[in-house]
Amino acid sequence: MKCTGSIAIVGALLVGAASAQTFQRLGACPTLGCVFPPDQADFLAGQYFDIRLEVHAPINGSEATGKKPDEKFTFTIAKGKGKPKAVTDYFGIKEAKLETWSFSWFEDLFARDAKTPSVVNVTAKAYRRVALYEPGEYTATLTYNGKEKTVANWFVRDLAEERKAKNIILFIGDGMTTNMITAARLIGHKTINGKYQTKMAMDSFPILGHQMTHSLDTFITDSANSASALYTGHKSSVNALGVYGDSSKDPFDDPKVETIAEIFYRLTGGKVGIVSTAFLADATPAALTAHTRDRSQYGHVVDTFLNGITNYTWTEWAGPEVLFGGGAENFYNSKLGGKTYKDQDYFDLFAKKGYQLVTSKTQLAAAKTDKKTLGVFTTSNMAKWLDRNIYQDNLKLSLSPSGDKTSALDQPGLKEMTIKAIDILAKRSGDKGFFLMSEAASIDKMMHVLDYDRALGELLELDDTIKATIAHLKKINKFKETLILVTADHGHGFDVMGSVDTKYLAAQNVDRKKRDAVGTYQNSGLSQYVNTGNLTYTDSNFPSNWDPRYTLFDGLMADPDRRENWSVHKDGPRVPAVESVKGNKDYVVNPEDGEGGITLGGTLPVSNDQGVHSLTDVPVFAMGPCQEKFGGTYNSIDVFFGMAECFGLARGKKSAHGRFL
Ligand SMILES: *[C@@H]1O[C@H](CO)[C@@H](O)[C@H](O)[C@H]1NC(C)=O
Ligand SMILES: *[C@@H]1O[C@H](CO)[C@@H](O)[C@H](O)[C@H]1NC(C)=O
Ligand SMILES: *[C@@H]1O[C@H](CO)[C@@H](O)[C@H](O)[C@H]1NC(C)=O
Ligand SMILES: *[C@@H]1O[C@H](CO)[C@@H](O)[C@H](O)[C@H]1NC(C)=O
Ligand SMILES: *[C@@H]1O[C@H](CO)[C@@H](O)[C@H](O)[C@H]1NC(C)=O
Ligand SMILES: [Zn+2]
Repeated sequence: MKCTGSIAIVGALLVGAASAQTFQRLGACPTLGCVFPPDQADFLAGQYFDIRLEVHAPINGSEATGKKPDEKFTFTIAKGKGKPKAVTDYFGIKEAKLETWSFSWFEDLFARDAKTPSVVNVTAKAYRRVALYEPGEYTATLTYNGKEKTVANWFVRDLAEERKAKNIILFIGDGMTTNMITAARLIGHKTINGKYQTKMAMDSFPILGHQMTHSLDTFITDSANSASALYTGHKSSVNALGVYGDSSKDPFDDPKVETIAEIFYRLTGGKVGIVSTAFLADATPAALTAHTRDRSQYGHVVDTFLNGITNYTWTEWAGPEVLFGGGAENFYNSKLGGKTYKDQDYFDLFAKKGYQLVTSKTQLAAAKTDKKTLGVFTTSNMAKWLDRNIYQDNLKLSLSPSGDKTSALDQPGLKEMTIKAIDILAKRSGDKGFFLMSEAASIDKMMHVLDYDRALGELLELDDTIKATIAHLKKINKFKETLILVTADHGHGFDVMGSVDTKYLAAQNVDRKKRDAVGTYQNSGLSQYVNTGNLTYTDSNFPSNWDPRYTLFDGLMADPDRRENWSVHKDGPRVPAVESVKGNKDYVVNPEDGEGGITLGGTLPVSNDQGVHSLTDVPVFAMGPCQEKFGGTYNSIDVFFGMAECFGLARGKKSAHGRFL
C-alpha cells in the first residue's frame, strides 16, 4: 500500500488562496511549483510518460508574489528511501531547455464578470519519454524559488508479466449508469408478476464492480479525460486526451502518458481495433491514440490513428486493424467541406497504408476479413438504433460519408461493426491476440439532449451487441481466451420515478392539472413497452412498442429549460432548448418540443442547451480470464491496471539495446 498521509498534510499547509475553489490556476497544482505526473500518480512498470515542471510567478491577483519567475529550479527523483538523483541522472537523459510563457485565469465568477483576469508568468521544462521499471514508491521533488518544494509521490504498481488473457474486448457505454440499465431492462424485457422472463446480457456476467469516474482536479469528468484514465491509468483534466494538462497555449506540448493500445502493440505486437457509433475523432475512440490537451483537435486525432504520435519519437505504431464509426468530415478534406490535419485526404492515406475502405452496411458485410479495414459510415455521428430500426424516415437526416450531402441510408449498427471487427482481429492477430474497444457513444449523446428513448435504445443495442459477441466468440472458439469488460466513462443523473398517462396529459390545459398524469408508487403500473402491441422486437429483447399510452416518467437531475410530454420523439433526436435570440447563447424551451407537456425551468446556467454529466460511480461487468480483478469498488484507473495485468504488460527490465525483455 502507498503510505503518503504525512506528505499530503505537509502539502496542505502550503496550499495558498487558490485551493478548493471551482476556478483553478492550474488543475492538480495548488502551489506555485507544478509537477506532472502529479502527486499520487500510479504507473505501470515500463509505461512511457513525459515529465512537465512549471514554476508560476503570479503577477497580480490574490497570489501575486512580486517575484521574478524562477529560472533555476531543480528536480530530483528518489526510489524508496534511496538518495535523490537529478532527473537527468536518474533517467540518463539530457537537460531540457527552459521554456517561458504567461497565461491568465479568473479566480472566481466576480473576477469573470469584472473581466479582471489574474496573470501568471511561467518558467517550465519538459523531459520526454521516460519510464520507471522498478515497482514501489518514488519521491519526485521540485525545488523552486530557493527552498520551496513540491513533492510528488509516485507509485509503480507490482510487476505482472504473465499473460492471462489473449484478447480483451472493452465495451464502453458512454454515460451509461446502473439506473439506465435498469430502465432499459424494464422496456426491453417482459416480466410476469415481478419476475423477468428474459434478462440483459450484462446481467449474465459473473463479476460486477464499481468504478469512480472523477477527474484529477474536478469531481465531474468529461469523456476525454475519463477515457484517458481507463486507457492509461492516469487521471487528467477535462478535455485532455492521453496527457496531463499544462498551462501553455500549445495543445500538443502537454506531458503524455502511454495508452493500453500503444503499450500492447509495442510490447506484444498484438492487434488493436476501434469501433464507435460516434464520429471517430470523438473523445472515447480518440483517447486510444491521441495525445493533446484539447479534444477538439480532430485532425490530430485521425492522424494519430494512422501514424501514432509523429511530432516526436514516442513509440512504434502500425495503426489499428479495424477502425469503424462515423465522422467522415475528419477524413475527407476541405474540398468536400471536411477538416483534416494539413488538409490531407485521410481516406487516401489509409488506402495507401493498405486499408480496405467500407462505407455502408452492405460493404461491411462483404468486406474481407484478412485486410486492415477502415469503415466510415456517416458524416458526423451515426444514426441511432431507434432511427435505423423503427423511425427509418429519420435516416434521411444522416449524411453520407462521401461528403456529397446525400443521406446515409445503409448504416450498420454497433452489433454488425463489432462482430466484423472481431472477425478481422481474430484473423489478423494470429497468436498475438487483440484488444478491441467498442463504444455505444449515443447513450451519452441522447441523454445530453434529454432524448431518453433514444438513449435507452442505444443501451439495448449495446446489450444486444454483447450478447452477439459472446455467442460469436464461442462459435469461433475464442471465448475462453477473451476477457470481456463492459463499463462506462461517467454517468448522467437519470432515473425512472413512475409512469405517465400521455393521453390524460395531452387532454389537460393547466400545468398543475397535467401533473396528475404522473403515476407514482401503486399508480406506476407495469411496463407497457413489452407486454402489449407488436412482437417484432420482443425476441431480440427490444421493446415491441415504443409509443405506448403509459410511458416512463423519467428525467435527469440537471437540465436546460424544457417541456416534457414523456413521449417518444418520432421525428428524430430531440432538441429540448433553443436560443431566445439567434446567437445569444441564452437557451429557452424549444417551442416545437414536448407538445402538450409540462414546462419545466432549467437548473443549469442558461448557456447550456443540454444536460450534463454526473458524479455517480459506474458499473464494470467482467467475464473471462482474470474476471476476478474487476469485482469491488475502485478507481477508474484500476480498469487500466487490471487490463494491463491480464495482458501481462508490466515490464521490469530494459535490455541494452533499448527494447524490452
Ligand atoms: C492583472 O493585470 C492584467 C493586465 O495588466 C489586467 O488586465 C487584469 O485586470 C489584472 N488583474 C487583476 C486581478 O488585477
Ligand atoms: C511576465 O512575462 C511578460 C511576457 O510574457 C513580460 O513582459 C513581463 O516582464 C514578465 N513579468 C515579470 C515580472 O517577469
Ligand atoms: C504537432 O505539433 C504542432 C505544434 O505543436 C501542431 O501544429 C501539429 O498539428 C501537431 N501535429 C499533429 C499531427 O498533430
Ligand atoms: C403493429 O404493427 C403494425 C404493422 O407494422 C402496425 O400497423 C400497428 O400499428 C402496430 N401496433 C402497435 C401496437 O404498435
Ligand atoms: C409530444 O411532443 C411531440 C413533439 O415534441 C409531439 O410530436 C407528440 O405528439 C407529443 N405527444 C403527446 C402525447 O402529446
Ligand atoms: Zn457526454
